Amino acid sequence: MAEQVTEERTTTGATRQSIATAGYRYVAGRLACSGVALDGVAERVGTPCYVYDAEGMRGRYHALSRVLAPMRAEIYYAVKANPCLAVAHLFAELGAGMDVVSMGEMERGWLAGAPMERMCFAGVSKSDAWLRAALDGSHSPLVGSALVSGGRRVEERGPIGVINAESESEIERLDAIARELGVVADYTIRLSPGVTAGANDKVRVGAKATKFGQPPEDLFAMVGRCSRLQSVCFRGLHMHIGSQIDDLSRFDAALAVLTALADRLRDAGHRVDVLNVGAGVAVSYVGEAAPSDEAYGEVLRTHLERFARDGCRIIVEPGRELVGQAGVMLTRVCHVKHAGGREIVTTDAGLNALVRPAMYGAQHTVWPVACAPEHGLDPIAPPMSTASLPTMDVVGPVCESSDVFARDWPMPRVQRGDVLAVFTAGAYGMSMAMSFNDLPLPAEVLIDASGVSVVREHQTFEALLGPTVGGLSGGRRIDLS
Ligand code: LLP
Repeated sequence: MAEQVTEERTTTGATRQSIATAGYRYVAGRLACSGVALDGVAERVGTPCYVYDAEGMRGRYHALSRVLAPMRAEIYYAVKANPCLAVAHLFAELGAGMDVVSMGEMERGWLAGAPMERMCFAGVSKSDAWLRAALDGSHSPLVGSALVSGGRRVEERGPIGVINAESESEIERLDAIARELGVVADYTIRLSPGVTAGANDKVRVGAKATKFGQPPEDLFAMVGRCSRLQSVCFRGLHMHIGSQIDDLSRFDAALAVLTALADRLRDAGHRVDVLNVGAGVAVSYVGEAAPSDEAYGEVLRTHLERFARDGCRIIVEPGRELVGQAGVMLTRVCHVKHAGGREIVTTDAGLNALVRPAMYGAQHTVWPVACAPEHGLDPIAPPMSTASLPTMDVVGPVCESSDVFARDWPMPRVQRGDVLAVFTAGAYGMSMAMSFNDLPLPAEVLIDASGVSVVREHQTFEALLGPTVGGLSGGRRIDLS
């Protein structure tokens, strides 16, 4: 991640740090991705839309693979970060497994081309239907679906690689369902190590007494009890302490708890063949520092190298760091207004399209896709002075006071019709988009060496309103007698 920051953050606020952006660059005052000008994409596809840089994602994958290679650690892409089928397919083609948390994500991972044996399935509330579909393709909701193509038969697919169980109740259900299907299901148990990490309270999840996983002392006893079950096989431990991990010392502390427990389980005669350590590291949104791949690899090596030498599989589940910086969201300025002395720029995308600022107070760099290069107004180039810039609020159309992308934000003046780029939007952008206020979901565009493709169309009004229109004529009656 050499591109992450170019200098320490200043405290004056008068200097904007350069942001890391994978393949995005301002060329002669126009934002371009791999040479493709994004004002043209906005014009042709319509806004709001997400743009993803395929080479940027591949570059991140290869860089991470390099530091993981000495441990033969496997990358399981966290589908939730960006479930776009074209994106998941890109990672499947590179050989990534998939980390999934619902039946929908599992089916998506399979459609994207990941083999079932290279998927792991976390989630605290898996239903029987999900577990059945994970173990036996003939229970997949894709049976008979036109979505399955290329001569593949979902009915014939094998069981999922490993279920990351989060409770004893889940393991008991898994055992019962596996027995019914005549298979033995591999599972790991998710550890809650009592160490958390992440950008904010909503995404810090490693504490002991939460819905996620089991604390070490409970987990140890559980493995003993569950080893009596005949149709499930304990394979190891899973852990995920939070997302946007910017402090590797937290990860280091959590790994110490994980490996101590693994040793204790082995001493008690249990096999530990898999150690899955969850999320990848943080990315930089507005020029803040983020851990390097090398530093992350070093922490992993310190704790896990001896397990890897024993043949234990090491799995990592990065999402954000693979896709975050490879994505920008394009949105068009609808109005510029002044109210109470503030300059307010309204755009056609709001929290419906990118909820992170409203939900977490997250910051994203927002900048016009066209800006005068002679003024040096380039957020990607080395730090620039923002002292001469006007400040404004950039807000969306949604009827919520939280629908603000950036407040008191120094930015070149824009006018109605201009296109803005919201940077570092590749992770947890489109995956969390919604149609609140009847705003259709944005389109998604992939830019690759072979060309520019719309990989998800804008949601149509048919699709938005279609499922509810029957209500006008009384809806579908159900007989509960
Ligand atoms: N593994 C598990 C079990 C997870 O729950 C997550 C993320 C990941 C891996 C991937 O984490 P990453 O490498 O992307 O940090 N919506 C929030 C983030 C929620 C993350 C949930 N779990 C946001 O926009 O910041």
